[in-house]
Amino acid sequence: MSEALKISTEQVTLDLPITDGTIKATDLKAVPTSAGPLATYDPGLMNTASCRSSITYIDGDAGILEYRGYPIAELAANATHLEVAYLLLFGELPNATQLAAWDKEVNTHRFVHENVRGIIQSFRYDAHPMAKLMSGVASMQTFYPSARRIDDPDARRMNIVRLIAKMPTLAAWSYRQSIGRHYVYPNDELGYVDNFLAMLFQSQQRVYRPDPRVSRAMEVLFILHADHEQNCSTNAVRAVASAGNDLYTSAGAGVGALYGPAHGGANEAVLAMLREIGSVDNIGAFIEGVKNGKARLMGFGHRVYKSYDPRATIIKKSCDDVFAVTGVNPLLRIAIELEKVALGDEYFVKRRLYPNVDFYSGLIYEALRFPPEMFTVLFAVPRTAGWSAQWLEGVTDPEQKIMRPKQIYTGHRARSVVPIDAR
Ligand code: SDX
Repeated sequence: MSEALKISTEQVTLDLPITDGTIKATDLKAVPTSAGPLATYDPGLMNTASCRSSITYIDGDAGILEYRGYPIAELAANATHLEVAYLLLFGELPNATQLAAWDKEVNTHRFVHENVRGIIQSFRYDAHPMAKLMSGVASMQTFYPSARRIDDPDARRMNIVRLIAKMPTLAAWSYRQSIGRHYVYPNDELGYVDNFLAMLFQSQQRVYRPDPRVSRAMEVLFILHADHEQNCSTNAVRAVASAGNDLYTSAGAGVGALYGPAHGGANEAVLAMLREIGSVDNIGAFIEGVKNGKARLMGFGHRVYKSYDPRATIIKKSCDDVFAVTGVNPLLRIAIELEKVALGDEYFVKRRLYPNVDFYSGLIYEALRFPPEMFTVLFAVPRTAGWSAQWLEGVTDPEQKIMRPKQIYTGHRARSVVPIDAR
């Protein structure tokens, strides 16, 4: 059944074809208006598709999240992060031979140029690690100029492998610099996640061996954070890429966007919120404050999910595995009670506000002794796989053009400059 939108004004009547649930915005230009050809006004791109993508599917009402058609719960239960990165990038799950080769390819590119270490070292110890990470990622294109050859498939793949491989090194060194500890170099005997944990936490012992339950929980968290279709930071990556930029420059913009407290910074904000509440006895007053607009319930709400974020469900389960090793985070009790009260309150129910990926993840990270300012870094590391897949899809999409939205101009027009003495 072909669908169409009929638009009729005094001047024209138009039947606009509806394909994939959308109309082509440029078709609207055929409708003249007093302000010029008809356009759409959509702050925050609340209802605008910016691209075609086959990477991640979300049904926000049903709480469905799939990577290349695989439900997130199945991938979290059965895959590794690098296996999922392969799926996001190449469209299919690897077989055992392909995965072994992929693991080896990524894990032999984990070292960074020593000058990048100097860039991280140049920051104050208390600089936010997301700032260090953003600088480290953006600097990479100067060490790997082949990255600027975005039309060369081999250069594209090589630099995607490099970025995914080196992100944990940059992240771990950003952390080590803040605590004044020596930098631990990648250890090729360790897998992707265990090597990251070793670079973060290794001290006197020769090789840091995490508890297998912690290692698996981090692997699951990485899988859950790997991609999420056209979120704010992915949109930033695609926007910068649309100007013809390499992956590192584009991913640097993604790190910047993810740093925002309304986006990836929310996991850090959740812990601050739970600490501010301090006790289950104070939840009622806090919720009233939220309803009066005095605060946001961080870790709640989502642009797409108008039901429970499927990732939050899985993370809540991972809490149990990690707390069996570390002991229960005392803030968990407040979080669980806060969720219960909010989900029973008309304000949140009416606005379809549910826990999102950030509501419980910070509790795990804190239990693993990460400082709150590292939480968003732990989001950026796995999201690099998704940014890379989305960057690759964007730069090879013949429909894509440099992103340059319109505006509604509300300022003055055609004024004459009055000489300064007469102003
Ligand atoms: C991530 O897009 C992605 O996919 C992102 C992400 C990913 O994987 O990349 O999933 C990761 O960013 C998760 C979201 C993390 N952010 C937070 O937890 C911060 C708290 N959440 C909100 O700031 C908010 O819910 C957003 C930003 C996530 C979504 O905002 P929207 O879609 O723009 O919704 P909105 O601001 O228009 O809110 C609709 C209504 C408003 O009330 P009214 O004006 O209608 O009265 O709901 C209210 C809002 O005030 N509201 C909240 C709320 N979130 C929305 N009220 C209290 N607490 C909240 N958290």
